[in-house]
Amino acid sequence: MTQRTLLLTGASRGIGHATAKLFHDNGWRVITVSRQAFSPRCPWGGAEDHVQLDLGDIDRLGEGIADIRRRLDDGPLHALVNNAGISPKQPDGSRLGVLDTPYDTWLAVLNVNLVSTALLAKGLIGSLAAGKGAIVNVTSIAGSRVHPYAGVAYAASKAALLTLTREMASEFAPLGVRTNAISPGEINTAILSPGNAAFAERQVPLRRLGTPAEVAATIFFLCSEAASYVNGAELHINGGQHV
Ligand SMILES: NC(=O)c1ccc[n+]([C@@H]2O[C@H](COP(=O)([O-])OP(=O)(O)OC[C@H]3O[C@@H](n4cnc5c(N)ncnc54)[C@H](OP(=O)(O)O)[C@@H]3O)[C@@H](O)[C@H]2O)c1
Repeated sequence: MTQRTLLLTGASRGIGHATAKLFHDNGWRVITVSRQAFSPRCPWGGAEDHVQLDLGDIDRLGEGIADIRRRLDDGPLHALVNNAGISPKQPDGSRLGVLDTPYDTWLAVLNVNLVSTALLAKGLIGSLAAGKGAIVNVTSIAGSRVHPYAGVAYAASKAALLTLTREMASEFAPLGVRTNAISPGEINTAILSPGNAAFAERQVPLRRLGTPAEVAATIFFLCSEAASYVNGAELHINGGQHV
């Protein structure tokens, strides 16, 4: 069988790191995107499969996409996972509300969490169509309710990312490309605030944080043949927090 290829944004830690590892362990080639340089401690690929790119720098995104296409060498892309995200907070870890959020924070959050996702998919749609690929966008429980730690720009970006997922699912499915979203709740990564674990123990029916590996498993499912008729869905990975 020919090797399948994943392009994953935000692979340097957290959910992205667990996702890269799972796909690699299942025989996929994993091409990663993040601001940091490739770390030789990562067990998958090598520097030649890592694109160092700031997704918030929209003016340079075209160059980054050209670089990714060069690494694909005109071959198909079987999955695009838009996982990179930022969630700016106050210095003490508390949330940024409407009254606290400056314009440059709005721009940075929307560019990284939303706009770059649309532009990346636009730039790679030919490769995705050739691979009958799957796109997974990482939204958040904060996109559907006010969250004690996630700020307003983050929440608005994730709500819009779900809308973008719906648009992509409609527009790309005739090309053979499925698009879905996964919406994590409280997952144990560096993006959390200090109070998140105690919050999860009180508010989440399963009474604990989720793990990056549990999120990665759902992303893997959506990119597999097992999900071949799943398109335009948002899967909740939150221990029942949304009920
Ligand atoms: N953890 C949770 O509880 C939770 C809940 C709901 C949703 N999510 C979502 O899940 C996704 C992953 O979150 P996480 O918790 O794993 O976060 P994380 O540990 O903070 O990791 C974020 C990743 O995104 C990359 N990244 C950030 N800004 C970037 C930029 N401008 N350009 C390129 N890459 C960038 C980071 O790499 P570099 O620093 O190297 O650039 C890093 O690999 C995010 O979209 C987040 O919103 C997480």
